[in-house]
Amino acid sequence: MKTALITGASSGIGKELARIHASRGGNVVLVARRGEELESLRSELENKYKVDVSIFQQDLSKQGAAKNVYDFCKEKNIEIEYLINNAGFGGHGNFVDRPLEKDIEMIHLNIQALVELSHLFLQDMKKSKSGKILNTASSAGFLPGPLQATYFATKAFVVSFTKGISHELKPHGITVTALCPGPVKTEFEFVAGMGNGDMFKNGATAYSTALKGYNAMMKGKRICISDLGLNFMIKFLLPVIPDTILLRVIQKMQTI
Ligand SMILES: NC(=O)c1ccc[n+]([C@@H]2O[C@H](COP(=O)([O-])OP(=O)(O)OC[C@H]3O[C@@H](n4cnc5c(N)ncnc54)[C@H](OP(=O)(O)O)[C@@H]3O)[C@@H](O)[C@H]2O)c1
Repeated sequence: MKTALITGASSGIGKELARIHASRGGNVVLVARRGEELESLRSELENKYKVDVSIFQQDLSKQGAAKNVYDFCKEKNIEIEYLINNAGFGGHGNFVDRPLEKDIEMIHLNIQALVELSHLFLQDMKKSKSGKILNTASSAGFLPGPLQATYFATKAFVVSFTKGISHELKPHGITVTALCPGPVKTEFEFVAGMGNGDMFKNGATAYSTALKGYNAMMKGKRICISDLGLNFMIKFLLPVIPDTILLRVIQKMQTI
């Protein structure tokens, strides 16, 4: 069974993606910063599904991190057939008042690491003429985001990048999918400083979101908007709503 490398596997959507892939007999390489969470997921998956689980503790916002992950797989002779670029975080507040370092760190993780990992692993996928990439973007990638301007913009990059390379890679037998969830109940809201807001109260579960993304990746779909209501809004309402109204609505939704 094919091996999946999953970033951000220590919690939330990434953890569920790892469980889903392992439950189908797939081996996994789990990447995140928190070693204890990765270790505990490793024993769970090894015991329950008898698959090979490798863990690599790494801060992906640091320079050279993606190459470290790639080199780890090469040293261990692990061929990655599915690359799941899922690690990411958001940050609430007016851009001008937020610490700039935090937004730069976000850009390094949400964009730079994803681009570098894709480029590195695609070299091997291109040679073997097969492979799948799943990028966890967000429905935020289709919207302007007052009070989370940098986060929304990073996800717009991921959506656009996914579309572009998915088309380029079609002749090589490689598919690229962007998973675009609405609010999901994970650690995300607390990391983003939005733990007291209403937005996540009725959020989707990490499992249902991961399953939709995993299935879309397996089918080779380009975009998967995992929330039905948002799917309708993005496809049919967004094109006709003027920006000024949209910006006001989103600012209100993001106010905590
Ligand atoms: N939850 C939502 O409402 C929502 C909606 C749309 C899209 N998303 C996207 O879904 C993805 C997964 O988020 P989640 O909701 O599952 O949130 P989460 O529970 O906070 O998980 C985030 C994962 O990313 C990892 N991570 C964070 N910073 C990292 C770093 N510097 N280096 C390596 N790994 C790092 C975390 O692990 P460590 O802390 O152990 O490093 C964790 O495993 C993100 O890309 C997020 O933007 C989430």
